Amino acid sequence: MDWGMQNRLSRMIKPATGHSVMLACDHGYFMGPTNKLENPRKTIEPLLPYADTLAVTRGVLRTSVDPKWSTAILLRVSGGSSILMEDLSNEEITTSMRDAVRLNVACVALSIFVGTSHEKQTLVNLSKLVDQGQEFAMPVMAITAVGKELEKRDSRYLSLACRLAAELGVQVVKTYYCEDFARVVNGCPVPLVVAGGPKLNTEEDVFNLAHNALNEGAVGVDMGRNIWQNENPVAMIKAIRAIVHESASVREALQIFNENKKNPSQRLETQIQP
Ligand code: 5RP
Repeated sequence: MDWGMQNRLSRMIKPATGHSVMLACDHGYFMGPTNKLENPRKTIEPLLPYADTLAVTRGVLRTSVDPKWSTAILLRVSGGSSILMEDLSNEEITTSMRDAVRLNVACVALSIFVGTSHEKQTLVNLSKLVDQGQEFAMPVMAITAVGKELEKRDSRYLSLACRLAAELGVQVVKTYYCEDFARVVNGCPVPLVVAGGPKLNTEEDVFNLAHNALNEGAVGVDMGRNIWQNENPVAMIKAIRAIVHESASVREALQIFNENKKNPSQRLETQIQP
């Protein structure tokens, strides 16, 4: 692997543990001002000190993230459909590789919609992006499903989608945790991270998801709503961080969450500057 590609990957997946806490804040690209992400800067800033990687679009990056932060950027470069459309799968590449390089990002991310009417289009989008990535030493992440595709969240479907992405040459895949997740990991020769999906009922459910995914071979999480839609987002990301980088158990994560939830200094931590 080229030095530049390796260097970018190490900014995102930390060599010390081989794991990564990715904070997903790219939902606006098709959902608009989602609950608790209406003002991206307000949501992102307090959480950034605890994220290895921040997933955003170029619009949010340029308007709402201070360039002084050294957090790795995972740039969403696909889009073209909104939640108003019946079919969300009609996506194209929306950002050039030149702009991604100009923004000094660590990785670019694109959704593929396997098993939909736009399967071929999104897989070809991915192949083109991988070709451009090879030219610029830019890692590419495939995102295996979003929105209405979530109903297909089983190991048979996800192992197919992840494997297709790996075969097309991506460096990382983002998918969803599912029963028999080990099957998805085994069939995918590149590192996998898991999304959180819509907000779960309890913090314990979120920690279980992250803990099980890591135990079964994911290298990290790329999590959004289950962090920033929680009433205590800083406590949430700290607990997730302990699971990802320190192999904390679900009980330990709950303890970290509860301690930080109670900690009034959390308000001060939101003042941390780049
Ligand atoms: C939005 C995405 C999100 O980044 C992904 O779904 C992770 O966020 P969440 O944990 O909220 O599901 O791809 O299009």
